Amino acid sequence: MRRIGVLTSGGDAPGMNPCIRAIVRTAIFHEVEVVGIKEGFDGLVRGTMNRMTARDVGGIIGQGGTMLQTARCPEFYEHKGQIRAQRELNEQGIEGLIVIGGDGSMRGAHALAGLGVPVMGVPASIDNDIWGTNMSLGVDTALNTIREAIDKLRDTATSHQRAFLVETMGRNCGYLALMAGIICGAEVVLIPEREISLEEIGQAVENAYARGKTHCIIISAEGSTYDTHEVADHLDALEVGFRTRVTILGHVQRGGSPSAFDRLLATRFGVRAVEALLEGESGQMVGLMGRDIMTTPTSEVVDRQREANIAYYEMARMLAR
Ligand code: ADP
Ligand code: F6P
Repeated sequence: MRRIGVLTSGGDAPGMNPCIRAIVRTAIFHEVEVVGIKEGFDGLVRGTMNRMTARDVGGIIGQGGTMLQTARCPEFYEHKGQIRAQRELNEQGIEGLIVIGGDGSMRGAHALAGLGVPVMGVPASIDNDIWGTNMSLGVDTALNTIREAIDKLRDTATSHQRAFLVETMGRNCGYLALMAGIICGAEVVLIPEREISLEEIGQAVENAYARGKTHCIIISAEGSTYDTHEVADHLDALEVGFRTRVTILGHVQRGGSPSAFDRLLATRFGVRAVEALLEGESGQMVGLMGRDIMTTPTSEVVDRQREANIAYYEMARMLAR
């Protein structure tokens, strides 16, 4: 293999940049050229790409976002778009591709592998919903951002004896909300994996007030059963003791300099992805299993979704005394 391509796709995640850096420098070490494809599958279909040197990735290890930029590409869902991408790879002499992105991007990588293109996937999504890895790139940084925000909210919540309803990202997966609930000591956690009625939420907040708590932190994943404002209105109508305020953390969770954990994981993923391609592996995604970087077939990755561990939900409830 003499020339490989790399792209970042779907929602950006802190850690994409250090991963690109590791890919470029590992390939150059093995005397393989690297082409950086702009804006995910969109750039691949349109042929927007440039050769990258070791200097091009200098100084990006601590930067959030992705220097290659990212996009969502509707055309790539169709076979026609995938064939256009394959043709572009052939024309550019790109013999292998590394796709860094979320579960949707892994589906795109799987589709290309099915056409015979040598492809490796790297999981990157703050949601941590990708099968085949214990941690995706960006999760640790996002959790640290959430922790910092909630620690600050608790200060003002305590001062005013208020309840704060904090919405985290996580379209279909409650991982961020659940982990934030544990590391920030939330009184209530709402996640898509565990249904809870409005009455139960109200009861939990009332109990917190009755036990003499000076604040009440409720963390709700974006994808949980109720709209965040609906829960806040319900709590205020109950008049349980705390007045309620809502904070939606939003896209702030996707930005920021990657944490030490994410930089290290991104580097290990990037190195392994290049080495796997050069060893002839294809249609695989790198992932963290225990302490090791392993590979899982993309056919398995696209078939399953990693869900938040309910044991942590019970732990969060037990500790919210
Ligand atoms: P993420 O990778 O963060 O989950 P998306 O789900 O939006 O983000 O997927 C990113 C891109 O991956 C899509 O815009 C599309 O180009 C490609 N993609 C997603 N699902 C598929 C699929 N089933 N087949 C082919 N390409 C896909
Ligand atoms: O998948 C990552 C994620 O940040 C989800 O948590 C969120 O629902 C979604 O992307 C937001 O997407 P967009 O950036 O298109 O608003």
